[in-house]
Amino acid sequence: MIYSSGSFVFLCTFVGDSTKTKLMKVHLIYFSATHTTQTVCRGVAQHWGKEIVEHDLTLEGPAGEVELSEDDLLVLGMPVYCGRIPELATERLASFRGHSSKAIAIAVYGNREYDDALIEMAQWLEAHNFHMVAAAAFIGRHCIFPAVADGRPDAADEGKMKDFAEACRPLLEVPVDAIPRVAVPGNAELPPYKRSSFCPVPTDQCTQCGTCAANCPAGAISPEDASVVDASRCLACGRCIVICPVGGRQFAGEAYEQASLRFTAAYSARKEPVFFLPEM
Ligand SMILES: Cc1cc2nc3c(=O)[nH]c(=O)nc-3n(C[C@H](O)[C@H](O)[C@H](O)COP(=O)(O)O)c2cc1C
Ligand code: SF4
Ligand code: SF4
Repeated sequence: MIYSSGSFVFLCTFVGDSTKTKLMKVHLIYFSATHTTQTVCRGVAQHWGKEIVEHDLTLEGPAGEVELSEDDLLVLGMPVYCGRIPELATERLASFRGHSSKAIAIAVYGNREYDDALIEMAQWLEAHNFHMVAAAAFIGRHCIFPAVADGRPDAADEGKMKDFAEACRPLLEVPVDAIPRVAVPGNAELPPYKRSSFCPVPTDQCTQCGTCAANCPAGAISPEDASVVDASRCLACGRCIVICPVGGRQFAGEAYEQASLRFTAAYSARKEPVFFLPEM
């Protein structure tokens, strides 16, 4: 079979062990402040027609340990923050374990680059007893500079989600031992975490309803007064902006406006999703 995505083409022929395995459940584990990662994970998984269990880590991790069975499939979806997956998401992932379970890694990035996010996910999966059988990088609207990749994932991306799901479908039925771990690009020695210096500020429209404080992944906004923000905790994730019903928050300031102009000029050329599938 030949799968293609943009300029990436992978050959994949299934030989050897023809024993079929029964897939129990598809677990989606994701962190998704502005919903693009969630949209991609759901958009891929829906095509398999299996029972889906969602673990949304955006606001909190699970209450206790969660172990997936060897017959479960994990779809791990992470946004790219400064070339890696968010540190807070990694903290919230700590309670999950596999049982030689198959896993698919999906990185969603804002049309600049996904850098080391997929290799970081591959390392996490291996360390937590998952077997990464496929991976992909999709594009989502940039949550700090929203003119970049605005409207994505779009209809064309939905088509790529279906293509990726179909490319993965045979892997769901092959015993895990018959599938080589898939290789992804990136630096095996991960660089230190970096963070954005931007943090949204309240506008005159704010009615102090408290919705943004209740939905901030980092607990950076005061529940008593939404104009009080602990910038040292802020992830710049943009969730408070998209969740506010009245346009009560925005990125602002001269430094932000200048950075936005530079970033938009540099990274507006459309990028396409890429898939990584095992050679068998
Ligand atoms: C702190 C921060 C750093 C980011 N770094 C990158 C990056 O390195 N490359 C990139 O293309 N997009 C980057 N983005 C954009 C996000 O990856 C993108 O908007 C993604 O779709 C957000 O996912 P979500 O909607 O699930 O929150 C960054 C966003 C934030 C908040
Ligand atoms: S959600 Fe909007 S209106 Fe409500 S407190 Fe936050 S900024 Fe203000
Ligand atoms: S205050 Fe910062 S961390 Fe909290 S939702 Fe807004 S951008 Fe995200």
